[in-house]
Order: sequence, then structure tokens, then C-alpha cells
Amino acid sequence: MSIKSQKINEDSDWRFRVFDSLSFPTLILKKNKEIISANKKFLELFQVSGGDLIGKKCYDYFKQSDFPCTPDGCPIQKMIENKNGCSILNEVKEDGKRVIWEERVFSPILNDKGDVAYIMESVRDATRIKTLEKRLTGMTELMRNVIHSSVSAIVAVSKDGVIMNKAAEDLFGYTAEEIDPTKGKKAVDLYPAGVAKEIMGKLRSPLYGGKGKLSSTEVNIINASGEEVPVRMTAAIIYEDGLEVGSMGVYNDLRERQEVEKKLKDVEMRALHSEKMASLGQLAAGVAHEINNPLTGIMLYADMLLENMDDDDRKEDIKYILEDANRCKEIVKNLLMYSRQTSLKKEIILINDLLNQSLALIRDQEIFMNIAIKKNLSQVMMIVQVDKNQMHRVIINLVINAIDAMDKNGNLTFRTYRNKDKKKVYLEITDTGSGIDNENIVRIFDPFFTTKELGKGTGLGLSTVYGIIKKNSGRISVKETSPHGTTFLIELPLYIPGKDDEMISQIGC
Ligand SMILES: Nc1ncnc2c1ncn2[C@@H]1O[C@H](COP(=O)(O)OP(=O)(O)O)[C@@H](O)[C@H]1O
Ligand SMILES: [Mg+2]
Repeated sequence: MSIKSQKINEDSDWRFRVFDSLSFPTLILKKNKEIISANKKFLELFQVSGGDLIGKKCYDYFKQSDFPCTPDGCPIQKMIENKNGCSILNEVKEDGKRVIWEERVFSPILNDKGDVAYIMESVRDATRIKTLEKRLTGMTELMRNVIHSSVSAIVAVSKDGVIMNKAAEDLFGYTAEEIDPTKGKKAVDLYPAGVAKEIMGKLRSPLYGGKGKLSSTEVNIINASGEEVPVRMTAAIIYEDGLEVGSMGVYNDLRERQEVEKKLKDVEMRALHSEKMASLGQLAAGVAHEINNPLTGIMLYADMLLENMDDDDRKEDIKYILEDANRCKEIVKNLLMYSRQTSLKKEIILINDLLNQSLALIRDQEIFMNIAIKKNLSQVMMIVQVDKNQMHRVIINLVINAIDAMDKNGNLTFRTYRNKDKKKVYLEITDTGSGIDNENIVRIFDPFFTTKELGKGTGLGLSTVYGIIKKNSGRISVKETSPHGTTFLIELPLYIPGKDDEMISQIGC
């Protein structure tokens, strides 16, 4: 044997050995799908002898069919046409149950002209990869569900895009697309000026929950309508191989909670206020009763002295005693009214009539000189059931206070309206006076609280008003006050007449 021919044999021997030592079971087929060779691995794994295999068509061996697969379902056919390798994934079943996933890889063996002469088919076990892939898909799906069903708003932004759950879309009012930094809003637009920068600064610092993390913190975000919404948020930087590739935030809307907290605080304040008013009322009632008897005595004896006295200088002095005693009597009356120790004589009346009657009682007085009275009265029927005389006292007191605050110059506006659902009637009295200082608002209904000079104010007006309104099942509050004026708001229960209500005839309805 010449050296040359020996070399050629060694070469073919080498090629033959490669085929046999491939770690995947492999076949060589002709274009007509006839199996012409199988490597050792194939024979071992499929437990078949070369004699049983060689010469068979692949569809005969693999599918036990006498006919080739349809051109569409046959990867060999496709490969002959486009001369590119390809692969298919098969689910191998036994007794209807899947045993393994098998990948078949087809590679063309080309002749000198570049056409497909033979086909090499390798079989690989893809069960592990397929199982991992399935587990990964399951995990991804689970993550998606967790994110999307979370009641907390979740937003993740990276160079690959934005993930936003439904809660986040509701909170921000944007879709993921709209806040994608490459297409729409930038993160800074979602916060008031400087806040996004501050968040990123804290995220990169180790001081706020560790580097790359931001522990729960309260900030405001700006939603699509430009509204600032208070939220509690946590955030994190997303790293890949130690590099920042994005960030994510979890947000909880605080509006509802803050609303509840505010309501609770209001209720607490109101409870404290009525407690204070109740104990002041008891004190006032005690003082009033104690003073009432000696006062009646003083007035009785002063009256008797006056009657039995001849005209002389001392008569004038006794008149002063009586005048001052009468003022004391008035104060006692107010105190009793405030402490709600007077009896009620309830009548039903239209709120507009009640107001007009009260104004008529003070109309002619010169205090109104430079004050314009405006009325903005609702014409719907608004009936209240109150002690008319006491309510006149309320309105007159409020009017006099308003006039005092305006220094006898300005506008005094009356407004009436109702809320049928809440069954309430409202009367507002607005002046253009000097307003009430913030620190005084909580004290103006206290008895003897006055900012007026000595001898001008007794500080009993609003406390009396408060007592009367309370006794008539209503509420009074300062709706608004500023150096440009004040609005007092009275709330009374709306009287709803029954079908055969006799009382209604009293007001001519
Ligand atoms: N319409 C008003 N505008 C500004 N301040 C008011 C008004 N009504 C009441 N006030 C304040 O409330 C205080 C208490 O009022 P009130 O109880 O009627 O007592 P008085 O009128 O005797 O001072 C007043 O001294 C005043 O400081
Ligand atoms: Mg007053």
C-alpha cells in the first residue's frame, strides 16, 4: 500500500470514527428518506440492530407508516429545498402519557454542486430544557399575576420598557406606554419638582434601607389630571451584573386614610368642644340661679323704695340701681339660655319668614345706617320646627356682631338653602368685617369671651346663640373667616310635613 492510499484510508477511518463517537444518536438518510447508516449511540439507545434499520424509510421506522409524511409536516423535505439545517420538537408518548421531549436536528450533507446529497438526523433528549422552560414560563406567569392582582400600585421602568399594574394605571392615570421614558413621560414628570431626584439620591445611598433600596416613605405623586396625590412608597434599583438597568416603585394611595384620619380628628375636636360647652353650661346655670334670687330681692326693694319716696335727689340714684339690676337680669337670662335651662316653645315656620321677622325687629335701628343688606334666599319650601323667639334672638345676636365687625360699614348677606337628602336647612350670615383671629375661633362660643372694649361686649352673645341652636337640635359654626369678612353657618333639621299635618296650616302651605 502506497503512503498516499494509506493516508486516504486513515482519513476515512477518522471520519467514520467521528460519526460513531457522536454523543447523540444519529442517522444518515438519503434524500428519499431511506436510512443508510446509524451510529453506535443510535443502535444502543433505540435498541435496534443495523440490519433491522438500514434500508428502511424513516416514516416506516419512526411512524410505522407505509407512506411519507405530508410535505408540510416533513422537515427533510423543507431542508432539501432550502439547504439549511432545522430542528423539530417531538413529544414522545407511551400509553398516552408523555415520557420525554425529543429534539430532532436535521443537517444537510451537500455534494460538490452544493445540493443536498444526504441528510444527517440527530436525536437529543430535550426533556430537561423543556421542563426548565415550562417552569420558567410558569414562574413568569405567576409573577405577572402577582404584580397585576396587587392592590398596591407597581411600576417598573427599564431600558426594555415599562411594567405597570392596574392599580398603578388607576393611581397615575397613565398607561405603561404613556410613561415609557423612550416614548412618553419622564419619571420626573410624575413627581413634584425635585422629588424624583431626591428618591434616586436616597436609592443610591446606603442610609435609607440599604444601597439600591428605599424603605417606606411618604411623598406626593402627580397624576394625569395634574393633581398631587399623597402616597406611601417603597422603591428599588434593578441591577444586572452589578449595573443599574432600571428601577421599580410600589405605591399605596394615602388619600382615603388621610380622609378617615381627618374625620376622626374632627369628631374628636367636636367631642372635646361639646364637653367643654357642657361643663361651661353647668357652671353658667349654677351662677345664674344663685344670682337670680338676690337680684329679684334687690329689684323688689329698690322698686318699693322708689314708689314710697318723695321727690328728692336719692330717687335718681335708686333708678340707677334698678337700671343696673335690670342689666344683671338680662345677663342671667342669657346665661340660662346658653345653659339651655329655659323651656322651649317649638313652632313650625319657614326659615325665610323666620329670618325676615328677625330683621324686622331691628330694622329701624340706626346701627344699619351704612350697611347694605343682601338676601340670597332659596325659594324651595324649607320648614323648620324651632322656638321662634329664641331663634330671633340668635339672628339678632349674629347681626349685631357682624355690624360690630364691619364698624358700621359694609355688606351683610343672608343665604338660605337646604339639602333634602341630609334633611337639613342652612342659614348663612356673611359680613365684610374684620374677621376672627385663628386662635380665637375655638373660644368665641365660650361665655364671657369678648374682644370688645370694656362696657361694650359681654361675651355672652355667641354662647347664648350656641345654647339656643343646640337646644333646637341644630349646629352653628364659622364656615369661613378672613380679614375680608366672616360667614356663620346655622344648620337646622328640615321639617318634613306628613300628609295630614295640621301644623302646616299655620304657615299657610
Ligand atoms: N361676625 C363677626 N366678625 C368678627 N368677630 C366676631 C363676629 N362675631 C363674633 N365675633 C367675635 O366673637 C366674640 C364673642 O362674641 P359674643 O359672644 O357675641 O360677645 P360680644 O359680642 O359681647 O363680644 C366677639 O367679641 C368677637 O371677637
Ligand atoms: Mg355679641
